[in-house]
Amino acid sequence: MAPIHATSNRYPECTMSEWHELANVADCPPKSSLERVIGDRVIALFNVDGTFYALDGVCPHQCAPLGKGHLEKHVVTCPWHGWQFDVRTGAYLSCDTLQHPNYDVRVEGETVLIRFS
Ligand code: FES
Repeated sequence: MAPIHATSNRYPECTMSEWHELANVADCPPKSSLERVIGDRVIALFNVDGTFYALDGVCPHQCAPLGKGHLEKHVVTCPWHGWQFDVRTGAYLSCDTLQHPNYDVRVEGETVLIRFS
């Protein structure tokens, strides 16, 4: 069965191909996460040993903030009911047919940038 992509363009007001400032590097040290809002988008940013990853910040189960979940290596555990996602890909670890949206991230100087394509 092909993966289900939870959203494709829930927030059309954000330009999909542009890079947006998301956070300062210092705001999200290694082994931590944070939540940011850009337009109507809630973003969960994760720092896995110095590499940043971003997922849609709203858990597909009952909308908990994934940016406030527990990060262990590359796996975030939802703070409400424990669903787990690979922050590198958005893959839901208990079901290979659910793919949570993930986004391109890069660092420029001291700023973490995100692109929604
Ligand atoms: S809201 Fe995330 S597992 Fe229930």
